[in-house]
Amino acid sequence: MSLSVRFQHIVKEFGPVRVLHGVDFALEAGRVYGLLGENGAGKSTLMKILAGYEAPSGGQLLVDGVERHFADARQAEALGIALIHQEFNLAEHLTIAQNIFLGHEISRGGLLDAKAMRAAAAACLQQVGLDISPDTRVADLIVAEKQLVEIAKALSRKARLLIMDEPTASLSAGETRKLFALMARLQAEGVTIIYISHKLDEMEAHTDEVVVMRDGRFVSRAVTADIDRHQMANLMVGREVSDMFQPKQLPAPDAPVLLKVDGLSAPGWVRDLSFAVRAGEILGFGGLVGAGRTEAFEALLGLRARSSARIEIGGMPVDIRNPRQAMRHGLTYLSEDRKGKGLHVNLGLRENLTMMTLERDARPWLDLKGGRVALEQAIARFGIRLRDIDCKAGSLSGGNQQKLALAKYLHSDPRVVVLDEPTRGVDVGAKRDIYHLIHRLAAEGRAVIVISSELIELIGLCHRVAVLRGGQLQAVLDHDHLTEEELISHATDTHH
Ligand SMILES: Nc1ncnc2c1ncn2[C@@H]1O[C@H](COP(=O)(O)OP(=O)(O)OP(=O)(O)O)[C@@H](O)[C@H]1O
Ligand SMILES: [Mg+2]
Repeated sequence: MSLSVRFQHIVKEFGPVRVLHGVDFALEAGRVYGLLGENGAGKSTLMKILAGYEAPSGGQLLVDGVERHFADARQAEALGIALIHQEFNLAEHLTIAQNIFLGHEISRGGLLDAKAMRAAAAACLQQVGLDISPDTRVADLIVAEKQLVEIAKALSRKARLLIMDEPTASLSAGETRKLFALMARLQAEGVTIIYISHKLDEMEAHTDEVVVMRDGRFVSRAVTADIDRHQMANLMVGREVSDMFQPKQLPAPDAPVLLKVDGLSAPGWVRDLSFAVRAGEILGFGGLVGAGRTEAFEALLGLRARSSARIEIGGMPVDIRNPRQAMRHGLTYLSEDRKGKGLHVNLGLRENLTMMTLERDARPWLDLKGGRVALEQAIARFGIRLRDIDCKAGSLSGGNQQKLALAKYLHSDPRVVVLDEPTRGVDVGAKRDIYHLIHRLAAEGRAVIVISSELIELIGLCHRVAVLRGGQLQAVLDHDHLTEEELISHATDTHH
């Protein structure tokens, strides 16, 4: 019942820009394939073609030996091909159940059978381990929950070929484990799986074979058991990747405190959180998904209700009611949800980059030339890979959108920078660039806060790590106590 796939010289052009240059490879039925490649290599585009979301500009797609031309995703779904999108494809204003059955509504006697759909949705949610009512509106979910809904939606389509485009980017360790258990179950039931991720340890542990793409082409493949993650990284990038983290430079002992927060509470999420960050310091925030890290900073920025807090920036008490005010005081926050809050996907790159500073400076004219220069600098500094400088932000690959979002939030030259999952979805090479950039931000005398679910990242990058659990600060570990065991024991309730 599982499906085999053959790509024959697949070409894809967006207007004048060619992004796939004749991709050739075949996948056997019933195996788990890892699809590897740097940001912008063309992985998502190729998968959208396979799942009927995009039409190829040339070449043939064969499914189980039969040439297919899907007019839309529905036709691919009818064959049993389902895609879990990297950038979620959910209708925010609809409920979970409505999203899962959108376009596939169950009806009885000509009427929608809401009860049956709710029950079926609940069953899918249970499979992915999301314990939440199917009547919840998607807009009210946090990112990890949206990801699980995407997966539940694909499951409800009874896939024979399941494509997962970075499904674990926003999941916690526990949720990730459940997802891999589910994947193993599906494979045992005969589902072919294509798995895209920048987490090479996941590739190592959970795929049968990896296929590598670079610059819109197939470059190589290998049986997973024959290679390790280091070799995978080298295949992807086409050169040796080394030293992800730089040695930590401790902040000067007399470095001033740039951000001091006392008694921050956000009803339902965070209770009485206090911390301080000094110039030159990188303070991490660890904890499980739902521990309240993002919510704490949303409350700090005025994006979410807060009941109390004393905030000082650079030693002065400040009142922050919205992100714009925060920026005037020198504090910026890069949200984890880059599609929802970080970028304006329908605007150009320059507009995105300069938008925040325009708001701050409220200049009556648009400095077009300056904006262009700033964009070119940002592209170089952040290693943004694109083919057309005049494209919309939404047409950048996922990882390059993340780099653009970083550039945008740093463009205002803030003293205090809060980065929420700054390397989510970026490839190994770009990750290294972002780590080095974060070091540089600290070395320039800024205070940097990094919220991350990747333990390696917290340990490799931060001077100290604050661990939250259930909305409360459990511990602040300084750099000689930063180990995975310590972090996990405080994040879960196994610490004694
Ligand atoms: N709708 C679009 N219009 C124009 N260009 C596009 C569009 N979608 C993708 N591209 C371009 O196609 C190239 C491949 O993008 P794609 O999203 O497939 O990369 P990817 O391998 O999935 O990268 P990532 O790891 O960052 O997700 C990129 O240069 C991207 O900018
Ligand atoms: Mg992608």
